[in-house]
This record gives sequence, structure tokens and C-alpha cells, in this order.
Amino acid sequence: MPHNPTVDTTITRTALVVVAHPRPDSLTAHIAELAIRRLIAAGYRIDLLNLHAENFDPRMTAADLPEWGNREKVYSPEVESHMRRILDAEVIVAVFPVYWMHVPAILKGWIDRVWNYGFAYGRSKSRLGGKRMLWLGLAGVADDDALVGTMRDALSAQLDDGIAYYCGFTQSSVGLLPGAEEKRQRLDAAGNLLLDEALTGAAREAHYADLENRALSFVDDFLAADRVSA
Ligand SMILES: Cc1cc2nc3c(=O)[nH]c(=O)nc-3n(C[C@H](O)[C@H](O)[C@H](O)COP(=O)(O)O)c2cc1C
Repeated sequence: MPHNPTVDTTITRTALVVVAHPRPDSLTAHIAELAIRRLIAAGYRIDLLNLHAENFDPRMTAADLPEWGNREKVYSPEVESHMRRILDAEVIVAVFPVYWMHVPAILKGWIDRVWNYGFAYGRSKSRLGGKRMLWLGLAGVADDDALVGTMRDALSAQLDDGIAYYCGFTQSSVGLLPGAEEKRQRLDAAGNLLLDEALTGAAREAHYADLENRALSFVDDFLAADRVSA
């Protein structure tokens, strides 16, 4: 086997990679695969959590509702096992399609049920302190649409501030990847959805190569911040 100098075998850190897409051949799954390869090259062991493949039930249950005042509550076995996976990871990378300017319901339900009271928040010393989070969201909106900035800010407020920092994460960032749809979509003044022609040939290749590069840049920046804080 050829020696790969970028792999430091002494590192035993774990990256929990959470994928939230029902199709294994989706662009989302492809971007997750690229991110995984980068994380492995940086020395991470990967715990792949494919929420659909693992049949995760995103619906809150009575058993998993917080009991305010009981920080030691034992949650359902499913949730407890997900909590252990989070504790075992130094970094979490979530890869998902943006749905309605938010994460898809299955990912939101994973956070609702698993990032629970007494575990993720509600303690003076956070159990998740020191961990770092990257949210990679693919969005159908075109790259140059005026909505992209609003979407980035909304996702950062919800995911970085509302969730990760609230739960004591040391660092959290959103990598928004607009342009994930093959046909550019716009609304005209009357509210009709206008679909451009699908990209083909070299233009299509260039478009997706650019999206892949943007995704990898987010992962590389995330890993670079790791080296600075290590
Ligand atoms: C239910 C639903 C809601 C969506 N909401 C948004 C949205 O708010 N903004 C956006 O840019 N794209 C939105 N999209 C488009 C998806 O982000 C896009 O189809 C996806 O990222 C493409 O990646 P995929 O091929 O891996 O599914 C939505 C798609 C669906 C199915």
C-alpha cells in the first residue's frame, strides 16, 4: 500500500457524519462521501449516521420528552445510543438538503429527540463542550439569487447560535451550497415557478465541479480551524 503522508495514524479522533437524504444516489449523499474522504485523510475515524438508512424516527415520543428538573433522566434506548455516538465524536458534520430554509424534518427530529435536556443542555458544564460542528446544506436556490445571503444568515442563526452554541459546542459553522438543482428556478412577478433549461455537457460538469470544490473548501476550512485550536 503506498504511503499517504496526509494520514496521521496516531490520531484517533472520531467524526460523526450525519446524512439526511432518502436517496443513496443523491447529490447530498455524494457531497457527504467527499467530506468523509477528506475527514479520513485528515486522520478521523468515521461514524456514519445515515438517518434514513438507520430508520431513525424523528417524531418526539413521550419517553423522550425532557423532564425539567431531572437532568439525569434516562431516555429511550434509541436516543441513549445516539447520545453515546455524539459523546464519542470530536466533530460532527451534518450533510443535508435545505428544506424551507431549515434542515429536513428527519435531521430536526434527531436534534429534538437526541440533543436533549441534561445531555446537550441544562448543565453548568456542557457535555458537548470542546466539540465542533459543520453543517453542510445543499440548496436549490441559484448561486446568484438575492435570497442566498438571507438563507445563510437564517441557517447560521438557527443552527450555530440556536443549537450548537446553546449546547456548548466550541465551534459551529454553516457551509451553504446553493446551486444544487440542475434547473435554475425563479419566481416571476405573478408567483409562477420558472424553470430554466437543465445544464448539459461542459457547463454541467463545471457547475458540479464548482459545487464540489465549494463543499471541500468548507471541510478544509473546518479542518484548518481544528489544527489552530488543537
Ligand atoms: C420539501 C423541500 C423544501 C425545499 N426548500 C428549499 C428552500 O427553502 N430553499 C432552497 O434553496 N431549496 C429548497 N429545496 C430544494 C433542495 O434544497 C434541493 O432540491 C436539494 O438540495 C438538492 O439536493 P439533492 O439532489 O441531494 O436532493 C427544497 C426541496 C424540498 C423537497
